[in-house]
Amino acid sequence: MDRDILHTKLCAMLGVELPIICFTHCRDVAVAAIHAGGFAVLGEAMHPTEKIEDDIRFVRAAVGDKPFGIDLVLPSSAPRSASAEEVYSEIPDEHKHFADEIKRKYDVPEPERAVALDQWGGLNKRIGHAQLDLLLDERVPVIATGLGTPGHLFDAAHERGLYVFSLVGAQRQAVRQLERGADAIVAQGYDAAGHTGASGTFSIVPEVVAIAGDRPVIAAGGVTTGRHLAASLCLGAAGIWAGTVWLASEESDIDPLVKERIIAANADETRRTACISGKTMRVLRCPWTEEWERTEAPEVLRSPYQMMLTKSYLQGANDARRPDLMTEAVGQGVGFVKEMLPVREILADMADEARSVLLGFAP
Ligand SMILES: Cc1cc2nc3c(=O)[nH]c(=O)nc-3n(C[C@H](O)[C@H](O)[C@H](O)COP(=O)(O)O)c2cc1C
Repeated sequence: MDRDILHTKLCAMLGVELPIICFTHCRDVAVAAIHAGGFAVLGEAMHPTEKIEDDIRFVRAAVGDKPFGIDLVLPSSAPRSASAEEVYSEIPDEHKHFADEIKRKYDVPEPERAVALDQWGGLNKRIGHAQLDLLLDERVPVIATGLGTPGHLFDAAHERGLYVFSLVGAQRQAVRQLERGADAIVAQGYDAAGHTGASGTFSIVPEVVAIAGDRPVIAAGGVTTGRHLAASLCLGAAGIWAGTVWLASEESDIDPLVKERIIAANADETRRTACISGKTMRVLRCPWTEEWERTEAPEVLRSPYQMMLTKSYLQGANDARRPDLMTEAVGQGVGFVKEMLPVREILADMADEARSVLLGFAP
């Protein structure tokens, strides 16, 4: 049989059929993507180590020896050991007052459950490093990091035969991560959901490819269809890393009301704003993003302080299941998400379309 045109060096490195990496917080989505021939990376930054351990067991029980990854958020700017209360107490009154006014104006209820930020890796270095130690002990095959990579991680992972994938939003960050020993670079463009830099996917991918040598570059940010996958390979990427496209899948555990918003949304309903976490992040617009964009708004705080302020709004909105208040990290490719489909179908459609586009170039 002819070699599959989609079989890249990333497929060979990871032992998978398709150069499609599914970034998700939902373990059912991750397992479905692996079963469908892709690779999956679970976002665990917000979870206590017990939950991460449980997810690792769950994925291993479902996929056997097939590899998978886990992503953590380990910002170098995080305080060493501050508690959630200590971080909150340092927030200026002006900001607390502005946040309270937003909640009053939009009638955002107080959260029903305690605001769960105590286990977030971005809150302090102690939590982040405990999460990382667990991944090393568990020998998670791929450890992915956005927003910072502690120096000891590269040697510790390589000694155990694990890969480190670094997410970057600018070429200079890629230079540094390659020097430090990253095994692959996820070059993430401005279009992406979540924390994202200022460079577009079409610029950053070939910029990183130009300096990465043999190491695979993985395109992220707006990759939602087979045409995007084909274009990424044409730019020199060895695969893609996608987040938005799985959010409204059948297996996804996000609130069905948010899935409906995602299916109805276009790129212009996303906002790239620092007002959620203190670092620029693309999300579905909501009253919180609109209010912080107003000229009267105080200057956004840095991470983790802004996140601390946001969390009570987010949790109140989620507990009350008010779609007019809710938000989610969503990328500019959201307009291509038009219906709720099983992960297997999303992946197969993406691969089929990419193959037909790429083979269409053949004489
Ligand atoms: C709901 C959601 C949450 C995300 N959270 C994280 C995160 O915790 N850590 C991270 O490195 N990236 C996070 N991302 C960004 C993804 O890793 C990925 O770079 C991005 O989704 C790619 O762009 P796309 O959404 O256009 O496919 C998140 C993305 C989504 C959709």
